[in-house]
Parts: sequence; C-alpha cells; structure tokens
Amino acid sequence: MNNPCIFATYLKPIEYAMATNRTFTMIKPDAVTDGHTGSITKMIEAAGFRIVAMKMTLLTPERAGQFYEVHKERPFYDDLKKIMSASHIVAMILEKENAVADFRKLIGATNPANADAGTIRKLYARSLESNAVHGSDSDENAAIEGSFFFSRTEQF
Ligand code: CMP
Repeated sequence: MNNPCIFATYLKPIEYAMATNRTFTMIKPDAVTDGHTGSITKMIEAAGFRIVAMKMTLLTPERAGQFYEVHKERPFYDDLKKIMSASHIVAMILEKENAVADFRKLIGATNPANADAGTIRKLYARSLESNAVHGSDSDENAAIEGSFFFSRTEQF
C-alpha cells in the first residue's frame, strides 16, 4: 500500500507538462554591471513571460564551469568561466507557451552583431563573449538549468 511508485505516477506527468512551457535565463555579469537588469526584466514581462523564479547570485569559476560543462572542449570555455564569475548574475525561470523558442527570438542571435534589431542582445550586449543574457536551447536543458539554480520550492 505504501508504494513510492504511486507518487511517481502522480508527479511525472505534472513535471513534464511544466517543463514544456518553461525556459531558463541568466542576465549575465556585463548586463547587470551596465545597469540593464530592470530594462531586460521589463522586456521579458512585456513579451508575455511570467517570472516563476528569480535570484541575484555570484557564480564561482568552478560553478560557472559546471553550468557550461557542455562547452568544456571549446576554445572559449576558460574565458566563459571568467566572464560568468566576474560579478553577479540574475537567474530566472520563465513561463509562457512555447517558452524556449519564443525566448530565443526575444534575445536574438548569440553574437549581438548578428542579432535582429529590437532584441535584448542587440540592445544590451557588449560582445559575443559578454552577450547580456543566456537562454536555454531546449525544454530538456531548460529543466536542467532551472534546477541548477532553484530548488523545487523556489519555483512558483
Ligand atoms: P550562451 O548562450 O550563454 O552560451 C554559451 C556562451 O559562450 C555564449 O552565450 C557566448 O556568450 C559564449 N561564447 C564565447 N565565444 C563563443 C563562440 N565562439 N561561439 C558561441 N558562444 C561563444
């Protein structure tokens, strides 16, 4: 009767449904330092995203390296760790239908030189390396990246 699988049966469909309409973002140290946190957050909300988790925090180079582990063989990995731990970041989980794809449209291309006019990166990024914001590239990564910063009880 006291079978833990009962809970798994209840929890799995709920977690799956939530993951598909959520994405994860970080306002990077360059944009926080440049005073763009408020403007970027305003653009995110104006585009219809609901902020369901938010915190300002400081990454160590080690923790930045863990977050970006997928890039560990890339030539820019060491610089990325330094840049992402240089000062505070603002982490958020965002909710909206089609969240991952719509958020990537809102932020624009990774390199701000190639980003469309009116996108967050075109407006606020300094360079490819310091490109103002991170946005998850899939529902699966959005769930992994969100849990990297937020416990279940910190997500509303
Ligand atoms: P982000 O979307 O956070 O994911 C990885 C980051 O690495 C990327 O944004 C860029 O800021 C950074 N980066 C630095 N150099 C490169 C590069 N040559 N190609 C892609 N990303 C790069």
